[in-house]
Amino acid sequence: MKIGIFDSGLGGLIIAKAIRKEMPKYDFVYLGDTKRVPYGNRSHETVFGFTREAVEYLFKKENCAIVIIACNTASARALRKIQQEYLPKNFPDRKVLGVLIPTVEEVASYKRVGVIGTTGTIASNTFPIEIKKINKSTKVFQNPAPMLVPLAEEGEKKLAIGFIKKYLKPFSSKKIEALILGCTHYPFYKKEIRKILPKNVRVFSQDEIIPKKLKTYLSKHTEIAKKLSQKGEAKLLVTDMTKNVEKLSKKWFGENTKVKLVNI
Ligand code: DGL
Repeated sequence: MKIGIFDSGLGGLIIAKAIRKEMPKYDFVYLGDTKRVPYGNRSHETVFGFTREAVEYLFKKENCAIVIIACNTASARALRKIQQEYLPKNFPDRKVLGVLIPTVEEVASYKRVGVIGTTGTIASNTFPIEIKKINKSTKVFQNPAPMLVPLAEEGEKKLAIGFIKKYLKPFSSKKIEALILGCTHYPFYKKEIRKILPKNVRVFSQDEIIPKKLKTYLSKHTEIAKKLSQKGEAKLLVTDMTKNVEKLSKKWFGENTKVKLVNI
């Protein structure tokens, strides 16, 4: 059985590449819902519906034992319901994990934390709620950064700089010590973001967090780990063959892996 990695678009490939680097022996299948990206400005119900369909596809058609939702919007809007209602009813022996809680666990010890994410992630308040569950005294400041998703899907850097500056500005008076890149498209801009922020602000990028967390999870959950095949294969699936798919999948996943179009 495989490890499935799902994102609304191609941004999650940056996380998928980092996971694969950490665990090269396993077999991976990445699914990007390029037909329906972005999820960030959609309703709670819609994000849940799309995410459920993607997870179901990865379980039924790709025989995944575990799916990582490499999308903060879907982690914030759909993960709990999938874990608590959908899985027990439909796939009681499979697992679905998100990227939001593992990130929160790394950051909660800081006193003043900034978060950028999609409009949906920020509106859900999931980051502040989950951070405060671990550390009540942490102050969390949030700002949505929606334009970075379509710009990243275009592989566009130059045009993004103005938006990054605008999105980071509200944090300048907040004396933040850490900034969460709360969207899996944002690691594409982590160098630019680190350059703009004061040196003392630590930037938390999920490509540097999720791989280690997944490795630890699998070492603790041997009932899942032992089901996983280890041929070192990777497969990329998309729901729309947009013009950037080939270029970005090479750039972000870093290989000549064939991309296949699927209907979910
Ligand atoms: N990459 C996704 C996230 O982490 C969402 C981007 C979008 O579809 O709006 O939130």
